[in-house]
Amino acid sequence: MTTPVSLSHADGIAVITIDNPPVNAVSQAVRQGLADSMAKIAADASIRGIILSCAGRTFVAGADIREFGKPPAPPMLRDVIAGIEALDKPVVAAIHGTALGGGFELALGCHYRVMHRSAFVGLPEVTLGIIPGAGGTQRLPRLIGIQASIDMITSGRRVDAAEALKLGIADAVAEGDLLGSARKLLMEKIAAPIPRLSDRPPAATAPEIFAKARQQIATRARGQISPVSALDLLAETAHMDFAQGMAREAEIFAGLRNSGQARALRHIFFAEREIGKIPEADARPLPVAGLGVVGGGLMGTGIAASALLAGMNVTLIERDAASAEGARNRALGLLKASVERGKLAQADYDAIAAGRLHASASYADLAEADLVIEAAFEDLAVKQAIFRELDKVAKPEAVLATNTSYLDVGAIAAVTARPERVIGLHFFSPAHIMKLLEVVVPPKARPEAVATGFALGRRLGKIAVRAGVCDGFIGNRILSAYRKQADYLIEDGAAPAEVDAAFKNFGLPMGVFEMQDMAGLDIGWANRRALAPRRDPRERYVEIGDLICERGHLGRKAGRGYYNYSGGVPVPDDEALAIIAAERTRKGIVSRSFTSDEIMDRILLAMINEGARILDEGIALRSGDIDVVMVNGYGFPRWRGGPMHMADEMGLAEVLRRIEALARDDTWFWKPSGLLKQLADAKRRFADKG
Ligand code: 3HC
Repeated sequence: MTTPVSLSHADGIAVITIDNPPVNAVSQAVRQGLADSMAKIAADASIRGIILSCAGRTFVAGADIREFGKPPAPPMLRDVIAGIEALDKPVVAAIHGTALGGGFELALGCHYRVMHRSAFVGLPEVTLGIIPGAGGTQRLPRLIGIQASIDMITSGRRVDAAEALKLGIADAVAEGDLLGSARKLLMEKIAAPIPRLSDRPPAATAPEIFAKARQQIATRARGQISPVSALDLLAETAHMDFAQGMAREAEIFAGLRNSGQARALRHIFFAEREIGKIPEADARPLPVAGLGVVGGGLMGTGIAASALLAGMNVTLIERDAASAEGARNRALGLLKASVERGKLAQADYDAIAAGRLHASASYADLAEADLVIEAAFEDLAVKQAIFRELDKVAKPEAVLATNTSYLDVGAIAAVTARPERVIGLHFFSPAHIMKLLEVVVPPKARPEAVATGFALGRRLGKIAVRAGVCDGFIGNRILSAYRKQADYLIEDGAAPAEVDAAFKNFGLPMGVFEMQDMAGLDIGWANRRALAPRRDPRERYVEIGDLICERGHLGRKAGRGYYNYSGGVPVPDDEALAIIAAERTRKGIVSRSFTSDEIMDRILLAMINEGARILDEGIALRSGDIDVVMVNGYGFPRWRGGPMHMADEMGLAEVLRRIEALARDDTWFWKPSGLLKQLADAKRRFADKG
């Protein structure tokens, strides 16, 4: 069996190489390999110094996250690191790629660190619902002080080589030959006393620092436990000696390792890495140098800005010269804000303004584009007319995409002579900031067209999820389902503000009614009218939203909607409340009260039920894809893992039992998905077999 850790030595210098693809995670085999190498080195008097390096694309990227759900297997990483630090021969870590989590902790146990100039270090454990568990909370403060450690540990932020040098994390930065630089440093230090972070006194500090950090974390990471635990630990151990601090770190780490939040965050970590595994993965994407965008509204300019930020050239089409100029200015406005936020260099902005962004009123200017994204008004006839034009001017191999959020992509593709090259690319607003992208695949789309959509997503730094064609694809279809449930709740007795408060208690950034007021109530109204002819007459239909719109109360922009904005601070709108009360009376509903938990239970079950239907119909490839969409596009708290993960945690039989209980009151809405039923049945059979 090949070992993931190898040891070679020449001229008194040993080189340990970890080779555990893809990211050199410290699995049990790596820990054992390191411990064995240390034993050999300690016993070999001819070895005077050691370089610890990694093969492949990166230094150790952390503990092996796949081992977290299992019982810990010795040797423990913290003991292996203690063994390295205790050596009486200097050890230099040679860091390329990303030294993260346990990987960075390993480097902190070495006596010196050399980083390649393109390398990063960080302790991202809090983003996985845990804290550093191999000495990171004790060694880092002793190296760079408490303030900088609080910043790195509670945010999980990565630090580049230049900043690491400034902070004192790196002893040297290698411009080219990393191993050469590590060897040079080792030779300089070979006879020097060995510096060990564990020998240093605690980096004690004033308590005010922690109070201020606590406030910041409370707003930044609302509801999430691990950043607060990390801060508490740093505060508690700020005056402790190293051994005591390590013991506390181990206790807190063990308590969090398999907590609900850690399981949820691990789930979403792996789900985000699975989304690229699509049936079209082996197809060759069309190289996209130039992107065309039709429609210079909020969405079109956001998409254009996203592509320009990624270094692409963009042609933006509007209906006339004046609109084209306006669209160009709006896109440049977004990019100017990116310059101010430090996301875009001024020189790049100047290049974009000078030529990389071309705005025009002529479709003929799209003749050279490899991919064109239509982002016009959400109306099938409008979009079909645009696609007829695009089909005429675009080169035959170009892929045409629509940014529709609800319409049938197949029906749009059908008006072209190239339906196999038409896909949906559903961006989320603001498109240059939001990470989610749904790649919508109509039945006739060829694998190369789908692969091109995914390649664009990668290039733009998006989280691209494959979706089939249906009303609303994955995200908006689930949104429609829980919005409907929220409407039922207000008709049954909950106030809109109570429903919104339940959303926020759950960890969503905004309530469903506040959100609709903000987006404008006319959007949903138009959509409901468009869907009306296809609506099942047996379906329970709540008219409250329509009645509010009929009064011209279209939400925040009109000063009124579910809330009244006239006083500056939104308050429940009297007229909306009166409409709700009148509708209850008209339908003979006896109003009842709901607790926050009852509200979210119904909302969550609506999400899960619709998610299961989406899986059932093959609209989403995996339940994890649905979670990725909800977390990255709809504000579902990441630390809850997404609705489908929550269903798994609840147990599918329990989910089905609760849905069936609700179905007794409302058979239409709660028709449980066949898939959910099958899964629960299978589980029951399995349990019966014992
Ligand atoms: N454990 C197990 N598998 C891991 C892993 C880890 N720590 N990090 C990445 N992987 C896997 C991914 O699942 C993926 O697998 P797949 O190919 O089968 O889908 C593969 O490695 C490649 O990962 P990416 O697609 O993410 O590759 P990128 O090049 O885009 O990114 C990375 C590389 C920056 C290292 C990124 O993977 C990452 O951020 N990894 C997690 C780092 C991390 O959180 N480390 C801390 C772990 S907790 C810890 O160390 C506890 C300690 O304190 C005791």
